[in-house]
Amino acid sequence: MPRTDNDSWDITQSVGATALGVAAARAAETESADPLINDPFARVFVNAAGEGVWSIYADPGLLAKAVELEPDVRSRIQLMIDFMATRTAFFDEFFLGAADSGVRQVVILAAGLDARTWRLPWPDGTVVYELDQPKVLDFKTNTLREHGAQPKARLVNVPIDLRQDWPKALQEAGFDASRPAAWSAEGLVRYLPAQAQDLLFERIHSLSADGSWLASNVPGAGFTDPELVRRQREDMQRMRAAAAKLVDSEITDFDDLWYPEERTPVDGWLREYGWDVATATFSELMARYGRSVPQDAGHAMPPTLYVSAQRRR
Ligand SMILES: C[S@@+](CC[C@H](N)C(=O)[O-])C[C@H]1O[C@@H](n2cnc3c(N)ncnc32)[C@H](O)[C@@H]1O
Repeated sequence: MPRTDNDSWDITQSVGATALGVAAARAAETESADPLINDPFARVFVNAAGEGVWSIYADPGLLAKAVELEPDVRSRIQLMIDFMATRTAFFDEFFLGAADSGVRQVVILAAGLDARTWRLPWPDGTVVYELDQPKVLDFKTNTLREHGAQPKARLVNVPIDLRQDWPKALQEAGFDASRPAAWSAEGLVRYLPAQAQDLLFERIHSLSADGSWLASNVPGAGFTDPELVRRQREDMQRMRAAAAKLVDSEITDFDDLWYPEERTPVDGWLREYGWDVATATFSELMARYGRSVPQDAGHAMPPTLYVSAQRRR
């Protein structure tokens, strides 16, 4: 279903299901022979959600059947697993760096099924604010509670749509804009219209004391290139058709979820506003962690730029 201005979702629907896709890829990476990341909670989420299109990542039997129907599925799934593994490693390192530098306030925007609050060795005194749609946070909190998992920092859930006045909700939940914070917007920006993206970074900037940290993966150069978008769409529809034959539940059309609009380059904007910025493209990040993009599948990934920044003191 196409997006609307005030749409909402639970974990198995619409944009919520993308969080399950990420979790399934993290589960597959964690359980692989030479994992780059270790996220034991990813499997817990996938099991709790039941069967869906995400199961193709995390269930080898289902993957084998999908490959019989559509041989390209294997390389596309592996690329997605590598994408999520390297992305997860990038954000993990970002947060550990921020914690080492003394930052004790963390804000995870569009937290989805990111389990860093339960996984990373946060220093004493760290508070993590997690923002996402209410039903997504409910699923996450209830699933981990039933599993007996304990957060490793003080967790504050801020259930809200990020198109609403989340800065107010965040501050009412205890966030202190006079102290530095570490922010992540991981796997979020393409699901926001271009204007909402601008507003998101303006709001982060206005809540960021000097010494704050920020990381995001954002649409990279060529993101709206019509030929690339056409090929991605075609690829996605083939994969979707194969999945529909195997999974007995509604298959979200992920192509309907993102906004193919020209956007303000976030790295340049942040520099203008006094942040020191480092960037890496998707293939640079893959190479950094010893993964590669197969020649015949490179077009399957939307161009992505990884941005990490620190606001100058
Ligand atoms: C691809 S998932 C990424 C989740 C998490 N950051 C990760 O990398 O594991 C996208 C997440 O963005 C959230 N999201 C997207 N648009 C949102 C909005 N307008 N308000 C709140 N959450 C939103 C979805 O609910 C979903 O959890």
